[in-house]
Amino acid sequence: MPPKRPSGTVQYENHGRVVIVTGGSMGIGDAIAHAFAESGAHVYNADITSPSHSSDRETTAVKHLPCDTASETDCQATVQQVLDEHGAVDVLINNAAIQPRESYHPIDSVGSQVWRRMIDVNLCGYMRMASEVLPQMKRQQCGVIINLASGQAHRTAREVGVYGPIKSANVMQARQWGVEYARDGIRVLSVSPGAIDTPMIRASLSEQGGAAELGNRHPVGRIGTADEVAAAVLWLCSPAASFVTATDLEVDGGLGALGSFAAPYPMPE
Ligand SMILES: NC(=O)c1ccc[n+]([C@@H]2O[C@H](COP(=O)([O-])OP(=O)(O)OC[C@H]3O[C@@H](n4cnc5c(N)ncnc54)[C@H](O)[C@@H]3O)[C@@H](O)[C@H]2O)c1
Repeated sequence: MPPKRPSGTVQYENHGRVVIVTGGSMGIGDAIAHAFAESGAHVYNADITSPSHSSDRETTAVKHLPCDTASETDCQATVQQVLDEHGAVDVLINNAAIQPRESYHPIDSVGSQVWRRMIDVNLCGYMRMASEVLPQMKRQQCGVIINLASGQAHRTAREVGVYGPIKSANVMQARQWGVEYARDGIRVLSVSPGAIDTPMIRASLSEQGGAAELGNRHPVGRIGTADEVAAAVLWLCSPAASFVTATDLEVDGGLGALGSFAAPYPMPE
């Protein structure tokens, strides 16, 4: 049996903070949005789709703003609405990204429509949203931006020739912006999850060898949960992480530490 997640809870106080999460209708974004809402923040979910009906969370605590992060107009309107309603933006979580099945090929077999859309959402979408919130964060002289990157930003698998390099760029965006805006009191970080149980990963399980095999590749013996990523993000956005900026945090059950020389773990009985 793979090890279970330890029990216990950690509470963060985010009363009155104004938070935008892109792609908060499901998966990791949904978990982050609700963790902020449960700790008192005003949370906006900027997502191209409505929150999923399968979500068992209380969705009313998070306001959905329809937004395609590939659209400059949508990003501008989203941030403007938040400013009109609250006059501040304290946290931006750049989370919305796509990894279509058609992208799981060597790059000469990925159609340009597919990779252009991935660049537009996964790379430019992060830049658009950051560019929209930064003037306000500079006026406030405080703010936190988190880019959801990936373990595949740091080391590659086969057939992620579009997704992986863009995720690396998300890490470098955070480093660059973190350095650039440090003296404005703005922290910028990236978080690189291992495999996390979300609709995105469920859609690609066959490419990854199946759920049990994928979990067993992680030293902790299982894939992660969206709540575990949310917990790391809330810590990074909290005053407890006030000296942490322009860097990346891998939330990956040890996967990134495992070199390719390592023999595979035996499958659990
Ligand atoms: N799940 C994993 O194992 C994993 C691992 C590493 C990194 N990540 C990263 O974490 C983030 C979240 O992943 P997930 O697994 O929760 O994804 P997901 O596919 O489950 O959810 C993504 C959300 O983004 C939204 N979205 C897609 N395109 C959009 C657009 N153009 N504008 C606005 N919203 C859009 C979707 O509607 C959806 O609600 C992504 O950046 C992903 O690359 C995920």
